[in-house]
Amino acid sequence: MMGDAVSTPVGTEADILRVLIARDALSERVQALGAQISQDYAGRDLFLVAVLKGSVVFMADLIRAITVPHRIDFMATSSYGASTQSTGAVQIIKDLEESIEGRHVLIVEDIIDSGHTLAYLRRLLLARNPASLCICSLLDKKERREANVPVDYVGFVIPNEFVVGYGLDFNELYRNLPFIGVLKPEKYQA
Ligand code: IMP
Ligand code: MG
Repeated sequence: MMGDAVSTPVGTEADILRVLIARDALSERVQALGAQISQDYAGRDLFLVAVLKGSVVFMADLIRAITVPHRIDFMATSSYGASTQSTGAVQIIKDLEESIEGRHVLIVEDIIDSGHTLAYLRRLLLARNPASLCICSLLDKKERREANVPVDYVGFVIPNEFVVGYGLDFNELYRNLPFIGVLKPEKYQA
């Protein structure tokens, strides 16, 4: 056991209990979301706002599935750090570079869990008078919702399990995995 822990590096596919959403399923769903967004925002000044860092992989794939002209920017909020539970406290670490006034803003998130992060961001951005404000979240842990937030585009509704991969992390690791996987509980219950 002890020898194992020393010789096996943490943060690889070996720490995954099971694959929840495979690479092909992600790709197919992201294409569909991109097509839907392209249809809905045709002729509008679309501005995508991704929330760092978890949304980076999703954002990179999503914008290549969107065929209408658009601009992008990033925001950063306080993250979970090494914990897997939301505190409800949200802090802006990096703000947008441009004004969103009069623009059709679409927030791109990796996952909505309690909903506190998105509820806060939504209020913050609405106060800046965008023409519209919608939310696109790749994953939705519906049963965990505490804050009432309208999510306009959802990739997958998932059960209440801690997931990593495709941008999502635990302790800043596993973002590179090309699928969404459930982390072995012993990896975060140490
Ligand atoms: P909320 O404020 O509880 O909705 O939390 C949203 C944020 O928590 C997401 O943007 C993620 O950064 C993080 N998060 C929630 N659940 C998970 C998970 O299962 N894996 C990785 N990060 C998660
Ligand atoms: Mg996030």
